Amino acid sequence: MAILVTGGLGYIGSHTVVELLNNNFDVVIVDDLSNSERFILKNIEEITGKKPAFYPFDLKRKELLTQVFDAHEITGCINFAASKAVGESQLKPVDYYENNLFSLINILQEFKERQISNFIFSSSCTVYGQADQMPIDENTPLKMPESVYGKTKQMGEEILTDFAKAYHRKISLLRYFNPIGAHPSAKLGELPIGIPNNLVPYVMQTAAGVREKLSVWGDDYPTEDGTAVRDYIYVVDLAKAHVAALQKLINDPSEETLVDIYNLGTGKGSSVLEVVKAFEIANNVEVPYQICKRREGDITIAYAHVDKAEKELSWKAGTPLEEALRTVWEWQKYLESRNT
Ligand code: NAD
Ligand code: WQD
Repeated sequence: MAILVTGGLGYIGSHTVVELLNNNFDVVIVDDLSNSERFILKNIEEITGKKPAFYPFDLKRKELLTQVFDAHEITGCINFAASKAVGESQLKPVDYYENNLFSLINILQEFKERQISNFIFSSSCTVYGQADQMPIDENTPLKMPESVYGKTKQMGEEILTDFAKAYHRKISLLRYFNPIGAHPSAKLGELPIGIPNNLVPYVMQTAAGVREKLSVWGDDYPTEDGTAVRDYIYVVDLAKAHVAALQKLINDPSEETLVDIYNLGTGKGSSVLEVVKAFEIANNVEVPYQICKRREGDITIAYAHVDKAEKELSWKAGTPLEEALRTVWEWQKYLESRNT
């Protein structure tokens, strides 16, 4: 009995594969390496001492996916595979809808035909847009996302909800806030491909001298220091939440709730400047920055109400921001050592 992890060599997927293997799940990875690298597989094996099955192909190739389902007794799926660059999604909407939704539908066809349940979907706090109240709980009304990327997440949630209800299957929609950090071994982390869009990878590269200065996008927000606030969750904590969500799906076969929805965050908001300061203190390095005007499409503030996940999954994101940021710096040093 195996769990299919799509996008399992990516940032969050690779950390989750480690947690699944450590919890004695058999894992089958499908990843086309469009945003990841093969050495991550080797590193997963080094960390866990286990060898997950790995298939390097694009999930849009339905015939190859069918072969994976024929070869393994798949009993659940965590679907990380997706394109995730918000700016790029605006320029390539058709590619984003195709990659993020066709892949999902191909997996669901296999699930439907083979009577498989237990599907976990990587959703995002982006489905809430700028919520009217903080913290954001799971009943907060969704707003039309600004980006095509965000729309693929909302559509994915709708497709899965229809799937669960029509075929009586259990699914979990996990809405991540802002994942950060790297594995404590420094062998897994977020791969910086091109110029980073997200805050923490940009901070990491600025501290390392790869980028000259961080641009802080706006200091005129109605927040304490004027910079925007987010809920930064350590990636290993996030990975552990997937194991908890999977165990809940598997161990509670009642059909009372077919669709579980959980916010995965820390419940605490941090401003951009707080993150910069915390990074400097955690790693004893300087992060030069300049204040720039707001980035288009950015919201002011988002942090999660986390009681539901705590209560129903017995899970809590406990790693302090500074500790998470220390792992980022170790990961940067590891990447540098690979390049020399
Ligand atoms: P990532 O890009 O590091 O990982 C995604 C992996 O999927 C990559 O390894 C990529 O090669 C693979 N992939 C993409 N399309 C594929 C396809 N068609 N077939 C096979 N493999 C494919 O991204 P991540 O940060 O680990 O994010 C994982 C999931 O979580 C995504 O669905 C993302 O939208 C979601 N999410 C991420 C964040 C974040 O800030 N990182 C926040 C909320 C939600
Ligand atoms: C965080 C804060 C920026 C870079 C994005 C996606 C969202 C979700 C999480 C997947 C913001 C500021 C950033 C920089 C800065 N992903 N910033 N200088 O915007 O919360 O959300 O990632 O689902 O869909 O939109 O994350 O890391 O890009 O930005 O000042 O160089 O840092 O303005 O306030 P964000 P982020």
